Amino acid sequence: MNDCADYTEIGCGIYQRQASPAGQASNASQTQLATVSRQEDGGGQEFRAWDFRHSKLAALILKGFVPPITEYSLVLYLGAASGSTASHISDIVQNGLVYVLEFSPTVMKKLISRCESRQNMIPIFADANHPERYSYLVDKVDLIYQDIAQRNQAEIALANAEYFLKDDGYLILMIKARSIDSTADTKEIFKKEVEELQKRLSILKTVKLPGYRDHLAVIARGRSSIRNPQKLI
Ligand SMILES: C[S@@+](CC[C@H](N)C(=O)[O-])C[C@H]1O[C@@H](n2cnc3c(N)ncnc32)[C@H](O)[C@@H]1O
Repeated sequence: MNDCADYTEIGCGIYQRQASPAGQASNASQTQLATVSRQEDGGGQEFRAWDFRHSKLAALILKGFVPPITEYSLVLYLGAASGSTASHISDIVQNGLVYVLEFSPTVMKKLISRCESRQNMIPIFADANHPERYSYLVDKVDLIYQDIAQRNQAEIALANAEYFLKDDGYLILMIKARSIDSTADTKEIFKKEVEELQKRLSILKTVKLPGYRDHLAVIARGRSSIRNPQKLI
């Protein structure tokens, strides 16, 4: 538990604390994030530190991107692992839901036990390549967040967007270049994946993440929700 006194809200239930004196805090490593977990019995709140070294979403926020999540959002999280990052999203969407999908039996056990203590995290044991297999479980969502180390990351994102993304919904995709090709130039890999996404989505932003070599965060949105799609890369 953290003392909330030093934290400032930076949007959608995300708090930030400067760990160094004012004016010297531009370095991401000196800035700490937290979300607030409310007790189920209504008694009190807990500030939970959110470590950017273990969460690409936290690293993205420290680069200045506050994710489009509200307390009512429905989120589909592909590649949840044991649910560490997903639990912070669960803190934010207090009146919404996070569907957390994972296909490794070993980490699934940990994910399920984390979901047991959170009413708004729904575990799904499935392969993200086959959205048709879990389509009966998942509503249309406001955000798809994907962090999956597979060769066909853009393809998986588009397949799930087709099934589950609302017309005005967002995709945040964490591309890991080395899972797509272990030798090719990372810029080329990113370019191809972004081009693949652009066939069906509008790319709003791409962000290199501090501390994550060979990763690129891509923020995209359904084409129909944008009057003048812009290419920002
Ligand atoms: C980098 S880890 C995710 C870490 C997590 N996002 C976090 O921040 O706490 C990637 C996860 O994706 C899962 N994964 C890989 N391919 C998958 C697939 N096709 N379907 C579902 N999960 C998959 C892996 O088992 C692994 O747990």
